[in-house]
Amino acid sequence: MSFNTFGRVFRFTTWGESHGPAIGAVVDGCPPGIALTEGDIQPWLDRRRPGTSRFTTQRREPDEVRILSGVFEGRTTGTPISLMIENVDQRSKDYSEVAQAYRPGHADYAYDAKYGFRDYRGGGRSSARETASRVAAGAVARLVVPQVRIRAWVEAIGGDAIDPARFDDAQIDANPFFCPDAEAAVRWEAKVDAARKAGSSLGAVVACEATGVPAGWGAPLYAKLDSELAAAAMSINAVKGVEIGDGFAAAALSGEENADRMRPGADGGKDRPAFLTNHAGGIAGGIATGQPIRLRVAFKPTSSILTPVETITRTGEAAEIATRGRHDPCVGIRGVPVVEAMVALVLADQALLHRAQCG
Ligand SMILES: Cc1cc2nc3c(=O)[nH]c(=O)nc-3n(C[C@H](O)[C@H](O)[C@H](O)COP(=O)(O)O)c2cc1C
Repeated sequence: MSFNTFGRVFRFTTWGESHGPAIGAVVDGCPPGIALTEGDIQPWLDRRRPGTSRFTTQRREPDEVRILSGVFEGRTTGTPISLMIENVDQRSKDYSEVAQAYRPGHADYAYDAKYGFRDYRGGGRSSARETASRVAAGAVARLVVPQVRIRAWVEAIGGDAIDPARFDDAQIDANPFFCPDAEAAVRWEAKVDAARKAGSSLGAVVACEATGVPAGWGAPLYAKLDSELAAAAMSINAVKGVEIGDGFAAAALSGEENADRMRPGADGGKDRPAFLTNHAGGIAGGIATGQPIRLRVAFKPTSSILTPVETITRTGEAAEIATRGRHDPCVGIRGVPVVEAMVALVLADQALLHRAQCG
């Protein structure tokens, strides 16, 4: 009933609030014998870490992970793996307005409506600080499916998209936007700077591709790989849309345009077919086809903005709120490692489910 846990066989539970002493995840169901140290997790957390450029929140968190359980002599034991990250840079006084009035677009009103009592400091549990725990758990998931490569990037900021012809994988980690198009990254510098200086914010589209997923992972109907991935991505803070493969664009295609035509594979067709296109995003009937899995995720613009917006107070009076404190001007940027982590967590779970049923 409390929905802090995700997954079926490979499950993780996150805990903690933005301004509490620490946050973390408990990963349960991880197979035993996998080599695991903090060094396997830290590089992924470093990619999500705040304060690394002027285009993200200036909160300074080292995000150092500690493994508290589930590992002995450098290998997983099959018991719960507890991961902890200390919060070291909270400034709770920045949030005094949020205690009194609701930020439109944020979770403040909805949390009060549901629970009647909330930790407003830094957004409490609704803060995307929680996503650090997902990234830590996702790093463990990656070790369960080492044959899979998961890569996400920002495809558009504030409606300004990359040019697919200029896609360069090496660029993704070479600029502060996870942008594969070097020219778009230059445009986005000015765009995000302007939004931040205007006390505004921008939305973004994040794309993700997983290669090396064998045909057969996934399940039909109520646990379609499409729906598992969509649920995982939708569970990320500020995500308002998910597309698998061509997504909504497929609705404008004809059957013959949308068909991912098949030819005999390189081995004469005995094993895997060769697909001529990938409109389906690597999934058919809820089950992986062996093609790259492709999804796109829409992040809304940050709702904590300096521009005053109309709202009401906790006691129902009309008010305006201008949110001070340190915020991401475009949350989709730091959403990139989070999307990757959620995809890894789904695929690790699916790999173990497939093994359980089909051997
Ligand atoms: C990586 C990341 C960073 C975020 N940073 C902020 C932030 O600085 N300020 C803010 O208002 N929202 C931020 N958000 C979004 C809020 O957490 C989110 O909008 C809020 O929890 C309400 O949930 P919802 O947007 O999913 O409805 C961030 C989201 C992500 C994924």
